[in-house]
Amino acid sequence: MNIPKHDVLLVGGGGAGLRAAIAASETYRGADIGVVSKVYPMRSHTVSAEGGTAAVLREDDNLDLHAYDTIKGSDFLGDQDVVEAFVKEAVDEVIQLEHWGCPWSRDEDGRVSVRAFGGMSVKRTLYAADKTGFHMLHALFQTSLKYDAITRYDEWFVTSLLVEDGRVCGVTALNIRSGNIHAISAKSVIICTGGAGKIFPFTTNAAIKNGDGMALAYRIGCPLKDLEFVQYHPTGLPGTGILMTEASRGEGGHLVNSKGERYLSEYVPGKMELGPRDILSRSFIHEERKGNVFEGPDGSYVHLDLRHLGEKVIDEKLPFVRELTRNYVGIDPVIEPIPVRPVVHYCMGGVHTDIHGATPISGLYAAGEAACVSLNGANRLGSNSLTECLVFGARAGQVAAQHAADTDFADSASMVKMAQDEQKRIETQFFGNNGKERVANIRDDLRQTMEEGAGIFRTEDALKATCDTIRALKERYKNIGIDDHSRVFNTDLVNALELGYMLDVAEGLAHSALLRRESRGSHARSDYEERDDENFLKHSLAYQTDGDPRIEYMPVTLTRWEPEERTY
Ligand code: FUM
Repeated sequence: MNIPKHDVLLVGGGGAGLRAAIAASETYRGADIGVVSKVYPMRSHTVSAEGGTAAVLREDDNLDLHAYDTIKGSDFLGDQDVVEAFVKEAVDEVIQLEHWGCPWSRDEDGRVSVRAFGGMSVKRTLYAADKTGFHMLHALFQTSLKYDAITRYDEWFVTSLLVEDGRVCGVTALNIRSGNIHAISAKSVIICTGGAGKIFPFTTNAAIKNGDGMALAYRIGCPLKDLEFVQYHPTGLPGTGILMTEASRGEGGHLVNSKGERYLSEYVPGKMELGPRDILSRSFIHEERKGNVFEGPDGSYVHLDLRHLGEKVIDEKLPFVRELTRNYVGIDPVIEPIPVRPVVHYCMGGVHTDIHGATPISGLYAAGEAACVSLNGANRLGSNSLTECLVFGARAGQVAAQHAADTDFADSASMVKMAQDEQKRIETQFFGNNGKERVANIRDDLRQTMEEGAGIFRTEDALKATCDTIRALKERYKNIGIDDHSRVFNTDLVNALELGYMLDVAEGLAHSALLRRESRGSHARSDYEERDDENFLKHSLAYQTDGDPRIEYMPVTLTRWEPEERTY
């Protein structure tokens, strides 16, 4: 078996992955970099990010203010050293992206435009109309093409991390086109596979976001940090979950209930539509309980009203919103309000890393939504995540490259054996056992129990029931069977493998949430309504075991900002 070798191997080809690949190439000249992605990189979920990316560029802004907003937004669970590094490095990253060709929108005077975003004190979100993710990903992708050292494995799907003598030494991956399993040897592996929104039924996330990289790390003993914190974005289209960008509110859009009221005056009077997402999403539920919402075939909703912005502003600043609403709900926001409701959008938790993107496992790194570097704590502010991909993608690429420069490749013979074992596992588990369970049924049941137990409001009883259901679903998964036994582009197999990842992430999430007996940021416990700094100003770490996950804790790093009451 011919085993390709790379000094640094990226798992995931979105914003964080490509930024890391470029950083690794620049840090370690002569290094050989591989990028494995289950989709063509321009189809990564980064492409669908809309509203913008945060960085301090204007005179009315400063790094401390960006740091404070982020820390307050995180409900004081963000590590403050991480936040300080982030706001500082964000500035150079967004300027660099401009030099790489990202077409930021501009003001009349030629300066890069900035817009307001939720929880931010000033306008600091750079944007490219409302297709920011598309343009950023494009700039990163085309830049990556100039590095001969970068080899891509498009439409390859990683099935395991290979470990020898306690260090990660490569991956096994399914070439989706051929159906063959390969080993790829690497001195450093960086996980950049994005989040796990698809473990919930209603999400802005693409079908590819199933927590793959988180589960890969979890399976080799790496903890998943702060998994209980799941962000609902307040404005998704009912039914499809398609994102109506926060930029709509940044540009002045209103949220209005069925009584015609801008109901946020009751919940977040100082910020109104520009309050943080956790508070806005809970406000919707309160309005729903009061009966102040509209009822439709896809559930209840409120109105996002942009009509007063006028056609010119909508076309210039929010063209994608107009395109999406016309295509998916048949309405024109210039003349009608848009139906919206909260929808799962982002995982604050993920693979535990330090401030550089290194995990506790030698040779393993992570960045972007798949990782938890502890920037976002209990609630991320909108537009910090694209910047996070840049800053911590670059950091992870640099340290992974330095590690690779000082490390040897693992023994090829043992890797051949590991790849053969993996091939056998997949053959037996999915093709050989005639299992009676089907992917779609287990996946539906998983999504339902996640929404019931780990949704916007949570309780002990509901979380326990979700933990029990996930345990049962994992048993059922052992009896999984697939109907397509062909090799080429076997999406049935890919979906079955993804479901295994989803169950692992869901188990870590539900158990972490069960044990966090307080309310903080996006984690709202109806039975523990207060934030409890005495007992829970700490990160959770979920470790996989043969039974339920083991949950440990580690302290939050505070530098200059004492935790205070979080009001807006
Ligand atoms: O609403 C949005 O455009 C989303 C941005 C983000 O999640 O950062």
